[in-house]
Amino acid sequence: MAKIPKIAVIGSYMTDLVTMVPRLPRRGETIAGGPFFMGSGGKGSNQAIALARLGAEVVAVVSVGADDFGKAALELFKNEGIGTGRVLVRDGYHTGMALIVVDSTNGDNQIAIAPGANEAMTGADVEAAEADIAGSDCMLLQLEIPAPAVKAAIDLAGRLGIRVILNPAPYRELDRGLYRKVGILTPNEHEAGLITGIGIESVKDARMAAEKIMSMGCRAVVITLGGNGVLVMDERTSCHLPPHGVKVTDTTGAGDSFNGALAYSIAKGMSLKDAAAFANAAAAVSVTRRGTAAAMPRLDEVEALMAAQAASCRESR
Ligand code: RIB
Repeated sequence: MAKIPKIAVIGSYMTDLVTMVPRLPRRGETIAGGPFFMGSGGKGSNQAIALARLGAEVVAVVSVGADDFGKAALELFKNEGIGTGRVLVRDGYHTGMALIVVDSTNGDNQIAIAPGANEAMTGADVEAAEADIAGSDCMLLQLEIPAPAVKAAIDLAGRLGIRVILNPAPYRELDRGLYRKVGILTPNEHEAGLITGIGIESVKDARMAAEKIMSMGCRAVVITLGGNGVLVMDERTSCHLPPHGVKVTDTTGAGDSFNGALAYSIAKGMSLKDAAAFANAAAAVSVTRRGTAAAMPRLDEVEALMAAQAASCRESR
């Protein structure tokens, strides 16, 4: 029987409050939209759910408030088959909240977060989860929890010999030395621009940014370029994967779907390029649906899109 990959996700949980709008509001503008919906979100939790739906065993270390939204997080994890032993419930904090507007014409979004209990995550919380994290095939991190908790996680992974995938979202400045301890860095084009100072308008710019990130000590970098696909680089390869042609409904959480699927396939032993291709397909399935956690695809859906694309490539030759 194939081994089930085990992945540790240390990150955020948020409740997403979402409104579809006819276009994104300008500065100072109020815009009427609808419908409104509420769902589970947070980059850490979304990536954990992406992994669980693909079939991974997930160790999730997240922090929620002692409120109804925190209870909903526990319920969600139980329903998705994710253990709740490392969901930290904090008195005196509200569960993280994300205010999201989605442009109904093209799926683009704007997000503002109120981190709440996510900000209470400490390095000690991460270290306390060592016994659960040990034996993971990889560790998946984002930047919606405080930097000391991220640093503690990267250091713990180093001690345990676990490969780290860091999704530097949302961007915050990190100690440069941390980049040398990251196995794969997965910024989107905005984050790659902020890390490197290179404005990314094209695949060529993305390649330059990837080279600069490699020179900072990362062993591999995968830059997601929204509608322009994905740029993949490690010491051996550099390639550009085009986007899948799908009808986009909501791009929120596409990066989370991508990162969960990338970690899953890396943990399964795929090459970086094959893992990125799988993740590219997972993200494409997720943007065809509304919401974030709710939009994460199952393995058969990702495989079906990849098979359909392979067929259409053969046809176009
Ligand atoms: O990446 C999408 C996520 O970002 C949303 O679910 C929202 O909660 C924010 O964390």
